[in-house]
Amino acid sequence: MNIAAFEGRAALPHAAHCANIHAAAFAATGQRIWSAQEFSDLFYATGSLLLHASQGFLLAQILDEQAEILTFAVHPDHRCQGLGRTILNQFIAFSAERGVSRCLLEVAEDNTSAISLYQTVEFKTIGCRKGYFFQNGDRIDALVMERCLR
Ligand SMILES: CC(C)(COP(=O)(O)OP(=O)(O)OC[C@H]1O[C@@H](n2cnc3c(N)ncnc32)[C@H](O)[C@@H]1OP(=O)(O)O)[C@@H](O)C(=O)NCCC(=O)NCCS
Repeated sequence: MNIAAFEGRAALPHAAHCANIHAAAFAATGQRIWSAQEFSDLFYATGSLLLHASQGFLLAQILDEQAEILTFAVHPDHRCQGLGRTILNQFIAFSAERGVSRCLLEVAEDNTSAISLYQTVEFKTIGCRKGYFFQNGDRIDALVMERCLR
């Protein structure tokens, strides 16, 4: 599994590929699909980090001592082979090297596979955001999860 890290606009050549995987990965969830332009715009944000593999990716933002996962996906044809966990562990290692003290994310409360995966790499639920995601025409709550690094 070859996973490369790109910071800031160095990720721009991968915007279309990320959008394709995002569309395939989130189609079944009913969540909004992000366009290649949206990915490009996010790559320009301060502290943006893309961990990119041929069949999956993780987009985060690192600001000072805090890292937040913005989106994370593995293509449906390549799931349950350990790619998601490998990408997440690389993200945690990268964040630790950068002096990050906590990683945060929001996950839909019914996304049991992602929640299980986050728990295996020691994310803990620290809160709930009511109606955070828009899914199949409905608002759905998000769990806020945190991984402390020190
Ligand atoms: C979440 C996601 C990235 C996981 O990717 P993946 O490559 O399949 O994950 P892995 O193969 O590394 O799985 C590792 C662990 O995740 C959990 N897991 C993965 N798929 C699961 C499933 N269908 N049901 C239950 N647990 C699951 C298990 O704990 C698994 O550990 P195990 O292999 O020892 O049983 C992928 O399912 C995905 O893209 N989902 C749609 C997009 C999404 O929900 N992104 C996260 C938004 S917050």
